[in-house]
Amino acid sequence: MKLSAPIRTLTAAALVTSGLLAMPAATAATTSEESAAAAAPDIPVADVKAHLGELQKIAEANGGNRAHGQPGYKASIDYIKGKLDAAGFTTTVKEFNSGGATGYNLVADWPGGDEGQTLMAGAHLDSVESGPGINDNGSGSAAVLETALAVSREQLKPAKHLRFAWWGAEEQGLVGSRNYVNSLPDADRSKISGYLNFDMIGSPNPGYFVYDDDPAIEKVFKDYFAGLDVPTEIETEGDGRSDHASFLDAGIPVGGLFTGAGNTMSSEQAQKWGGKAGESFDACYHSDCDTTENINDTALDRNSDAVAHAIWQLSS
Ligand code: TRP
Ligand code: CA
Ligand code: ZN
Repeated sequence: MKLSAPIRTLTAAALVTSGLLAMPAATAATTSEESAAAAAPDIPVADVKAHLGELQKIAEANGGNRAHGQPGYKASIDYIKGKLDAAGFTTTVKEFNSGGATGYNLVADWPGGDEGQTLMAGAHLDSVESGPGINDNGSGSAAVLETALAVSREQLKPAKHLRFAWWGAEEQGLVGSRNYVNSLPDADRSKISGYLNFDMIGSPNPGYFVYDDDPAIEKVFKDYFAGLDVPTEIETEGDGRSDHASFLDAGIPVGGLFTGAGNTMSSEQAQKWGGKAGESFDACYHSDCDTTENINDTALDRNSDAVAHAIWQLSS
């Protein structure tokens, strides 16, 4: 959609004021097409699903889960890290301890950009012990991975520095992300201009929920779904129940997407989203049926494309 010049100028100015877009004011005031961030590529949902298939195989080979302290978790880290290393990312595995077991966060930096303005996106990679955790949270993990791989394919040269992360022990109480944020020196923490969180984005009876934390980040997601004619709602199923809370608590602007967990879809929601009223967004939440069968492909596709859109928009 092409906005009229005054609206476009206002929008860009608002984003610049918030510090989320690194666009110089002079550029923002023009109406030339060059002033906009390059359009993000379409993220192929088949590629996202291929990662989910691999995560499921990892669970099957490791006692049926990918939980903190279990071998399927470390195998999941190794899988994601291998893809990122081959694509030219600088990867770091950061160990921590939780409940007597070693946990791992994986952090992947895309070389270049202004490290004083670092845009982060992340997802928890651990499952609960009761199942393979494909929607919770293979979905967010795979979408963030495929977005990172798209950054590499396009050899993106963003103004900001990009950092992607996969957290451990989220299911133990946001342990990995808290450990990461708390371990950062103050000087490094203040360089993070925003953190985007993706936890459960392919629920089988999906809602389209956007976190209402940082207004500029929220707007980028809402505008994306408006462009698809998909209505969104504000995420309310337990604010602070995922890793963005670790960043929010440290004063870092956050945002994210969610398609629903154990809550029930209302009839109004079913009507607007074409879902099943009176049923959970994810009836397999935290259970052994959270497999590759437990994914709505359309929701996974839209949300994966939205991840890439936000990374492109907010890092330009
Ligand atoms: N991983 C979260 C959990 O197990 C899932 C979740 C529930 C969630 N409510 C949320 C994620 C709200 C994001 C936003 O609790
Ligand atoms: Ca897509
Ligand atoms: Zn969970």
